[in-house]
Amino acid sequence: MDDLRKKLKVMYKEEEIQERIKQVANQIDKDYEGKEIVIVSVLKGAIFFTVDLIKKMKTPIILEMIQVSSYQGTQSTGNIIIKKPLDGDIEGKDVLIVEDIIDTGYTLKFLREYLKSLNPKSVKIAVLADKKERRETEVEVDYTAFEIENKFVVGYGFDVDEKGRNIPYIGYLD
Ligand code: IMP
Ligand code: MG
Repeated sequence: MDDLRKKLKVMYKEEEIQERIKQVANQIDKDYEGKEIVIVSVLKGAIFFTVDLIKKMKTPIILEMIQVSSYQGTQSTGNIIIKKPLDGDIEGKDVLIVEDIIDTGYTLKFLREYLKSLNPKSVKIAVLADKKERRETEVEVDYTAFEIENKFVVGYGFDVDEKGRNIPYIGYLD
């Protein structure tokens, strides 16, 4: 077992994650009945959540990926750039942003504003985890799988310096 795994405590087990994602998928199916959703998955952390979520949904989807990053040195100030743009056109479409975690809120605030500027019909947000007490800017989140405490999470997409994403459960560093 690698060192990172040894340092982690389990927050949510694989089965718990899948069960909760199924509930979120069902809710999304209800809310978007008869529609098609453009899923905008936020690279890299959200790919695990995205795949499991969309496989559990019955609503037809188009899958898009976007990657953003904060300028180094100005942590959480909203200085965000697009590293990988969308491939497709979202004008007139119902868009659902799928992100791993909302922390200060700056990333999702930026993404929502940016996507709105491309004239979609609607934009909603789904997150795997919400660290509510850390919020610095208000962002409306439509679907939250887990509200979590202010702990640094690793696994199921979450990384520490790019490591640990493939750990199958959500763990935290103590
Ligand atoms: P925000 O702009 O502060 O909401 O930042 C959200 C981003 O911070 C996420 O997309 C993650 O990349 C990163 N992040 C925040 N908390 C954690 C954590 O506990 N583990 C891993 N990454 C985190
Ligand atoms: Mg991220």
